[in-house]
Amino acid sequence: MPDISVTVAGIKFRNPLLLASGILDENGYTIKRILDEGAGGAVTKSIGTDERSGYFPPVVVPLDDGLLNAVGLPNPGIKEFGSEMKIALEAGKPVIGSVFASNSEDFLNLCSAMESYGAYAVELNLSCPHVKGFGSEVGSDPDLVEEIIHSLKSKIRIPVFAKLSPNVTDINQIAEAASECDAFVLINTVRGMSIDITARKPVLSNRVGGLSGRAVKPVGIRAVWDVFENFDKPIFGVGGIENAQDVVEYFMAGASAVQIGTAIHSQGRGVFRKIESELADFMEAEGFNSMVEMRGLAH
Ligand SMILES: Cc1cc2nc3c(=O)[nH]c(=O)nc-3n(C[C@H](O)[C@H](O)[C@H](O)COP(=O)(O)O)c2cc1C
Repeated sequence: MPDISVTVAGIKFRNPLLLASGILDENGYTIKRILDEGAGGAVTKSIGTDERSGYFPPVVVPLDDGLLNAVGLPNPGIKEFGSEMKIALEAGKPVIGSVFASNSEDFLNLCSAMESYGAYAVELNLSCPHVKGFGSEVGSDPDLVEEIIHSLKSKIRIPVFAKLSPNVTDINQIAEAASECDAFVLINTVRGMSIDITARKPVLSNRVGGLSGRAVKPVGIRAVWDVFENFDKPIFGVGGIENAQDVVEYFMAGASAVQIGTAIHSQGRGVFRKIESELADFMEAEGFNSMVEMRGLAH
C-alpha cells in the first residue's frame, strides 16, 4: 500500500487532504465531523478580533465552473472561538486556526489565542478579496506582510502559514515578504463579478466577490509552480481540487499538501474519502510509494 501521509512544517497529516478555510468550519462540530469522515486536517474559518455578521445576501452565486462569494468574513470573534476549537480537536487530527487582522498587534493577539486553544498552526488570511481593510488589502503590501510575519515568528511557538492572494501582479514579491513563514498557502479566491441581466445589477450584495472551484485550478497551479521555483518552503495547494488527478497535479507543481473547499458544495463531505482512495489507486498504478516522491516532479 502506498503511504499517503505527509509531514508539513513538522505536522503529520494522515492524508494530504485538508479542509480549506471558510467551508463548514465556523463550528467545532462540523469541523470534527469532516475530520472524522476522512479529511487529514482542517483549517478553521478565518477568525477576527470581534464578532462580524458578514454581508447581506446574496453572498454566494453558483456558476458553471465554481462559486463566486462575498460572505464578508462572518465569524464569532476570537474569544468565542475557543469552545469551537476544543470540539474540533476532539477528532484527534491537526486543526489549523485561520485568522485575519489589519495590523501586527491584532494578528499577534489572535495567533496567541489560537495557540492557547491548541491549534497545531496558524494560517494568516492575507488574501480575502472582498473585505475593506483586511485580507488582500493587507496581503498586497509587502512591507506590512514582512512586519506581521516577523513579529509573529519571534513570539508564536506553533508554525505560521501565510495564505496569499492570486490577485497581485507578482506573487513572488509577496512570497518574498512572507518568507519567514513556515509554509505558504496558495491560493485564496480570484476576484470576480456576476451581473443579473434581468435586475440589471451585480448579483452579490457586495458587487465584487471571489471565484473558487474548478475554474481557478490553473491559477492555483501556476501560483504553486512560481513559488516552488523560488522558495525552499512547504506549500499547501488550494483551488479547484475535485479528484486525485487534481491533487497529483498540485504536488507535481510543488505542493506538499492540499486544501479542499468548493468541492464539498458539489460532492458533499464524502469527497475526502473518495479522493483518498483514488489517490492510493493512482500511486499504486504509477509506482509511487509516498506523496513526497511526487513533489515538484513537473519542474
Ligand atoms: C464560501 C467561501 C468562504 C471562504 N472563506 C474563507 C475564509 O474565511 N478565509 C480564507 O482564507 N479563505 C476563505 N475561502 C477561500 C478558500 O479557503 C479557498 O482558498 C478557495 O475557495 C479556493 O479553493 P476551492 O476551489 O477548493 O474552494 C472561502 C471560500 C468560499 C467558497
